[in-house]
Order: sequence, then structure tokens, then C-alpha cells
Amino acid sequence: MEAQIPPGAALARLLTTRGSIIAPTWHRAVLSTDRAAFLPETIYGPDPAHPGWECPVTRADPRWDRWVAGDFALVTQVDDGAPVGPDGRGRVATSSASQPSLVVTMLQALDAREGHRVLEIGTGTGYNTALLCHALGEEAVVSVEIDPRLAEIAVKNLAQAGHSPRVVTADAAGRPAAGEGEFDRVLSTVAARGEVPWSWVEQSARHGVIVTPFEVGNTPGVLLKLRVHGDGSATGHFIGDAPFMVLRSQRADMRRARELVDEDDPEATDGLIELNPRVVAYRNSGWQLALGHLVPDLRYAVYEAAEDRPEWAGEATVYVATLDGSWALGEYTPAGSPFEARRGGPRDLWAEIRAAWDAWVKFDSPGRDQLGVTVDERGTHLWAGNPAAEVGSRDQRSRL
Ligand SMILES: C[S@@+](CC[C@H](N)C(=O)[O-])C[C@H]1O[C@@H](n2cnc3c(N)ncnc32)[C@H](O)[C@@H]1O
Repeated sequence: MEAQIPPGAALARLLTTRGSIIAPTWHRAVLSTDRAAFLPETIYGPDPAHPGWECPVTRADPRWDRWVAGDFALVTQVDDGAPVGPDGRGRVATSSASQPSLVVTMLQALDAREGHRVLEIGTGTGYNTALLCHALGEEAVVSVEIDPRLAEIAVKNLAQAGHSPRVVTADAAGRPAAGEGEFDRVLSTVAARGEVPWSWVEQSARHGVIVTPFEVGNTPGVLLKLRVHGDGSATGHFIGDAPFMVLRSQRADMRRARELVDEDDPEATDGLIELNPRVVAYRNSGWQLALGHLVPDLRYAVYEAAEDRPEWAGEATVYVATLDGSWALGEYTPAGSPFEARRGGPRDLWAEIRAAWDAWVKFDSPGRDQLGVTVDERGTHLWAGNPAAEVGSRDQRSRL
């Protein structure tokens, strides 16, 4: 009799040779699970003919097999299931099968072991849920998905793979569902933007671990690993990159700085600032995290002076704005401060950015690796080096 090739053999080989899988538990789980069986007939991707759109690709299209065989995140739903464009094209990816190397990186970071109960947030296709069931047993896994249609499909996918864990349709950023008990591990496969929901900590057992993608401001997602302490708070660090879609309730308004600036506002005021306006674009991941945390919803755009005017080299207009109608611009010149500035709306954004810069510099300009996060009943706090050295705080808006 011919030996059967396990359904996940090719993916397990790919992830092993790329150095993504180390733990035998997760190697076995990937080997035994057919990722393609969790994917819908139609997935979405870019098409040069339709820039800016997520374009449908059906199973009959050779790209479907190619993309599924690779180490790619695959978009499985757009615009919350109702594509807004012609021919099924969508603007915003709202569910996906995560990138396999990131899936195993997160599972390994979670450090879930036999006997642990795991809460997964963002069931999506159910593939990640299936890996958890394979490693820990289906009775150890509860998965929460906000979209009822996706939850229903995931339950079917899981059943076909031989697993029937509890899949709950709910907003995982809201109050915890009653009667679920405590979890040793919480794994989110959807990003927390600015605030980690307090309910995730509340549902964790003492000494539990929470692994979640996290993002603020203009930062791409980072992976955050938190440990829950005896007093019920959780602290931890950023352990890598993790670009993910954001929790539905924390989705950002996509408007850009330039769309929010009203230079003709008759109430706008002119002045001078000492702060270099280019600071908002300073490429230091620690600074970008601090800025995003301290000035929530900030967006910026830097317009370089015309390249064909050498005498303007280095000059730029920097626009900043927040969603409450506050905006400002600063005219950067290499000659240095003070810089001409203009602002409108309720808040003085240059003053807030200055305060964020001072707070960050006060702690010796920590890089991403030196920053940490505490989540407690009051909110999400960013610190440098140790939890007592707080760079800034955010109130827990997501707590109901
Ligand atoms: C990146 S996908 C999950 C990928 C999934 N683990 C997989 O392997 O297929 C994120 C999922 O989170 C769900 N989601 C978004 N906001 C949520 C929320 N507040 N509560 C629960 N699920 C949420 C989305 O509907 C989406 O299906």
C-alpha cells in the first residue's frame, strides 16, 4: 500500500526550511491540516488592471493554487462580505487566512501546552483554530468571530477537518461572554489598535499569556506578548512584526492628513514653532509607537518642495491632523528653527507632538525593543525599560 502524504506536507516543509517552525507540536499540526480546505472558492488579491481594489480570484484561476501554496496571507472577505466595487471587487480586506509563517510564529510565542485552555480571537477561516485543536484538543479551544457568516463557514471547515471546538459569534472587544471561564492563553489573530481590550486580561488566568498584533498611529502592526500578573494586570513587550487587520470596533478612519486640513479656515491661526515639523516622519520604530500612543489618530503628510528648484532642496510642508477636526502645518527649511506654522480646530497638535517628543526623549529615546506595555483596568500604558517608567497612557475606551 502506498504511504499517504499528509495534507500539510508541502506547507510544513516550506515553513521548516524557512526557519519558521521550531516546535514539533506545531510541525505536526501543520503537517496534518490541509490549509486549502479552509479557503473559500473566491479569494481576493491585487490586479494591476484595477489598482486600489481587492480583486476576486476563483479556484479555477491558476493564481488560486499558486497563492495558496505560498507563504502568503490570503484575503477571504472584503467590505464585510458586501463588495462595494463592480465585478465583486472590494475596497477593504475584512477577513483573511493569515500568513502561515506568522501563524506558527504566533502559536510558538503563545507557548500553549497540554492542559491549557485557549481563547482565540478572530476565527476567520478556522485554519488557526484547527491547528490549536490538533495540538491541544478541541475541548481546550474557544474561538470568537464577530461575523456570523464567517463563524458558520469556519464551523463547517473545522468539522470537515474532524474538529468541533466552541465557536462563539460575538465582538471579542466587548464584555466577555458569561460562563466561558478562565483561559491560560489568549491568542488574537486580529490587531488591537491603541488599546488592548481589558476583557482579554479579565478572561485570563493568573500567569496566563496574551499574544496579539498591536498597532498605533502610523506604525505597521507589531506583535505584543503580555503576561498576566497576580494583581490582574498584564505587562509585556513587542516581539516582532505582525501586520494584521484591526478589530472591527477599532477600525481606523482611513481619511488622510491632507483631506482633514482646511487651510482656508477663517479661524486658523499663524505662528512659529521651535519643533522640527519633520519629526512626525522620523523613522524610529520606538518614536513612532510613542507618537501614535500619545497623539491618538494622528496622521501626517510631508510635501517636499519641488525637485526642480535646487534652492528649495530639503524644504517641505508637513501636514498633521486628527479626526476631531484639529489640523496644523509646519514649513520646514534646512536653515532651522523657528518654523512657520498654521493651525485650526480645537487642539494644538504641534504642542501635543512636542510633548510626545519630550516624553520620549526623557526616557533616552527608547527603541521598540526597550518599550513595553501594561494593560490594566484604567487602560493601556506604554513604558520604557520597566513598567514604572511610563511614557504615556490611554484610557480603556473599548471597555463597556
Ligand atoms: C485575520 S482574520 C483571522 C484569521 C484566522 N485566524 C485564520 O487563520 O483564518 C481576522 C478575523 O477577525 C474577525 N474580527 C474582527 N473584529 C473582531 C472582533 N471585534 N471580535 C471577533 N472577531 C473579530 C474578522 O471578522 C476576521 O475574520
